[in-house]
Amino acid sequence: MTRKKVLVTGGAGFIGGNFVQYMVDKYPQYDIYNLDLLTYAGDLTKHRDIETKENYHFVKADIADHEAIIPLFEKEKFDFVVHFAAESHVDRSITDPGVFVRTNVLGTQVLLDAAKQVGITKFVHVSTDEVYGELDFDPTTFFTEETPLQPNSPYSASKASSDLLVRAYHETYGLPINITRCSNNYGPYHFPEKLIPLTISRVLNDQKVPVYGDGKNIRDWLHVIDHCAAIDLVLHEGVNGEVYNVGGHNERTNLEVVKTIISILGKSEDLIEFVKDRLGHDKRYAIDPTKLEQLGWKPTYTFETGIAQTIEWYLDNKEWWEQIISGEYQNYFEKQYSM
Ligand code: NAD
Ligand code: DAU
Repeated sequence: MTRKKVLVTGGAGFIGGNFVQYMVDKYPQYDIYNLDLLTYAGDLTKHRDIETKENYHFVKADIADHEAIIPLFEKEKFDFVVHFAAESHVDRSITDPGVFVRTNVLGTQVLLDAAKQVGITKFVHVSTDEVYGELDFDPTTFFTEETPLQPNSPYSASKASSDLLVRAYHETYGLPINITRCSNNYGPYHFPEKLIPLTISRVLNDQKVPVYGDGKNIRDWLHVIDHCAAIDLVLHEGVNGEVYNVGGHNERTNLEVVKTIISILGKSEDLIEFVKDRLGHDKRYAIDPTKLEQLGWKPTYTFETGIAQTIEWYLDNKEWWEQIISGEYQNYFEKQYSM
């Protein structure tokens, strides 16, 4: 088989980082290029086990920097692009939307231009179910690929805008693209500003866990490795121009998630603290993954097996998350939760 060059943007972050490790191990015949700006959400310590492998490469760059991205594509002539790099936290988008537009919208357009210029084989744009807006609590309703885009937060609006640009490059220039829209991920290397790792790290430190509003909002959780396998499948088998939803039917209220973690760790529910609700807080997300299942995907984790594995990982890798929460993160936490 001929060697392929795969550019993974955002490969120092949570999902991109798991995907880089998955690809480096699974495809020794591919060269995996991890391109990342190393913002607060990116770190390379997670790649210590693969950094000396011959098929792993790292490039520090800003996806919105046209002057850096175009020459890189001209030099390397990537075959595949898998685009994760983004500002990803909804709460941060509510306090500072500007950087979300720059990275998520402009950054995607710069990558699309570069991909068009060198004639790549496939561009997979990793998007989110949040572009569909919210569902009500009727458990028979789901997001399908036909659900209209109705993003409610600056984060999801920026992701929906990038989805539309990706679609437009396919329609206008025939760029071979796919868009994936996944539900909430969890698993190793999840940054502790998000609900699950925030809860695990705070419960382990006997600190209060902030639950927004009444805790009844619902998210549909998927283990990050099942997401990686879905993207791998779409990269190789996805029909050009198509959108694929990714989700494993694991709906839980936020309160159920927090109580499950507290119970596995053998701590008291007195640690739960109800705090002011998130502005524009989406009620419920739930994915219909039928189209992706027809392509051959099926998740390997249930929520129960996945959350147990994830808690184990956080217990075994305290060094990784303790180093994060002891730094600049503390200022973020004070500011975010004093509002
Ligand atoms: P993350 O915040 O953990 O990681 C984002 C990475 O992108 C970081 O390594 C960061 O340094 C890098 N980055 C940010 N701005 C950059 C720039 N201008 N140039 C280059 N690199 C930059 O995010 P995540 O949770 O891993 O999400 C990855 C992607 O998956 C995002 O596009 C997100 O919208 C999507 N997604 C996330 C979830 C989820 O539950 N986390 C679910 C569905 C889709
Ligand atoms: O659905 C996919 C999306 O999932 C991704 O596109 C986003 O990048 C990712 O961050 C995630 O968004 P959410 O807003 O759903 O994830 P978060 O972990 O921030 O919040 C999950 C739920 O928990 C949500 O209903 C808000 C609530 N929450 C969150 C935090 C951080 C709390 O109750 N307390 C908290 O402190």
